Amino acid sequence: MTLPSALSFFEQIQHRIGEYVPVEDAEEEVCELYSVYYSKSAETRPNLVDATKSELDIELQSGKTTISLTIAQNPNINCELGQTGAVLWDSSVIMGQFFVDQQAGGSWDLSQLNILELGSGCGLVGLVLHRLGARQVILTDQPRMMKLLNKNVELCMHQSATLHTRDKIKRDGAKGIVYATEYLWGHPPTDLRVLQAGIDMIVVSDCVFHETVASLLADTLVDACRRARSDSSSYSKHPVVVVIGQELRSDIVHQEFVARLLESFILYRVPVSDHADGYHTLYVAWLKH
Ligand SMILES: C[S@@+](CC[C@H](N)C(=O)[O-])C[C@H]1O[C@@H](n2cnc3c(N)ncnc32)[C@H](O)[C@@H]1O
Repeated sequence: MTLPSALSFFEQIQHRIGEYVPVEDAEEEVCELYSVYYSKSAETRPNLVDATKSELDIELQSGKTTISLTIAQNPNINCELGQTGAVLWDSSVIMGQFFVDQQAGGSWDLSQLNILELGSGCGLVGLVLHRLGARQVILTDQPRMMKLLNKNVELCMHQSATLHTRDKIKRDGAKGIVYATEYLWGHPPTDLRVLQAGIDMIVVSDCVFHETVASLLADTLVDACRRARSDSSSYSKHPVVVVIGQELRSDIVHQEFVARLLESFILYRVPVSDHADGYHTLYVAWLKH
């Protein structure tokens, strides 16, 4: 089913809502997810990244769309406290592939969107969205992650320029703006561009690994969605769409995160590929009011 033209991104999501699973109770959601999780054998678990390498070549393909990105990692600091974003996580590859599938299949039109990513780490998800033609992608993380994140933005721009000269990137888009900036959860964004960007979608990949993070991130998402619509320059009358990818690691932590989200958001689970099913979840959400 391709999209009727001229739908806003929020309306596109509404148009397909029958394909998604409504989530109304955190305990029920976790029971459902973990009944699948425990029925899987460890061999089927995706292993899409290599945390020992200083550079990874990622290629995501769907239909006629191919996105190739080289992502720099810093494996040496990954074991240090608060440096989990120094390497790629499977969730970012699964989310990236999901966005490529949506765009290539005509389910979601991601071009022309203004997108904010929280906890970008190495930046794969946001950079894929940039390549898919988003109008503006703002990658954010803690101050200590900026050096690596900026390096990956530069690598992506360099690769885009090379691809342009080979005239291959036309179908990939990549004409929009992309940059990295600090955004520490629980604090208002210090970069005014984040507030003035007229954000349509916020994306988060694999950022919940502890109960305390669950509430901090959920509160930050509420705050970011409200700020994105409180600025008078924001052109959209529709709510910001939040897309969250999360690896299942702990039933307690996942339940806490879903419970926190349900306090403020309408939440739907979106089916991802069979291959990720059981170990990763993907949600779309928007503020109740
Ligand atoms: C497990 S990594 C995931 C990185 C990336 N999204 C991915 O999927 O590959 C979690 C990310 O959240 C970021 N993060 C954790 N706490 C944060 C905070 N309080 N404010 C901003 N970012 C934070 C980390 O720096 C890290 O980049």
